[in-house]
Amino acid sequence: MTEVFFQELKEELQKSLVQKKHPFRYFTLATLGLEKIPRLRTVVLRKITEELMLTFYTDKRSKKIMHLKENNKVSLLFYHPKKLLQLRVEGIASIVQDKTKTKDSWNGVQPKSRKDYTTVNSPGAEIDNPDNISYLPDENFFCMVEIIPFKIEYLKLKRPNHLRIRYSKTDDDWQGEFLVP
Ligand SMILES: Cc1cc2nc3c(=O)[nH]c(=O)nc-3n(C[C@H](O)[C@H](O)[C@H](O)COP(=O)(O)O)c2cc1C
Repeated sequence: MTEVFFQELKEELQKSLVQKKHPFRYFTLATLGLEKIPRLRTVVLRKITEELMLTFYTDKRSKKIMHLKENNKVSLLFYHPKKLLQLRVEGIASIVQDKTKTKDSWNGVQPKSRKDYTTVNSPGAEIDNPDNISYLPDENFFCMVEIIPFKIEYLKLKRPNHLRIRYSKTDDDWQGEFLVP
């Protein structure tokens, strides 16, 4: 009985890749490094496979990468305001090491967006003037992160009954349980 909602969440995630204004295009990524303060930030969903592996792009010098190296467990939050649908995802993140795969994706990055991954100083470094940032002409710190989810919690607020379902993955199979909302 929970399968139909799993299908819905999957379709919504997939739609976000083709519908520019889809709210699942952006999600909140939480990481927890050794200092044990959860760190949240918005990132863009770039890819999702049939098995629900999610990909985002980042600068390999960013704090989130440091966190992922310290602890590869992450949480993701998606929210669809019109559907009042929230998805909480827990998964294992890995930094893509395959150079060809990374290069292919880099070639697909819009030329005007490429500079985001080429600052001389690392993201988060202090600067005197935000209009005075130097970029490297032919080097970049682009990297891809893939997240394999092991738990997804679906919450839909609706009347008369809200709907909350926990999906857990065991042996490549997703099992859903209804929960008290
Ligand atoms: C709309 C929006 C989209 C963003 N997309 C990304 C993204 O895809 N990848 C990324 O690394 N940062 C993205 N950012 C910036 C992050 O939210 C964050 O500020 C930055 O990555 C530094 O995070 P960190 O220091 O925790 O690593 C985005 C920010 C906004 C507001």
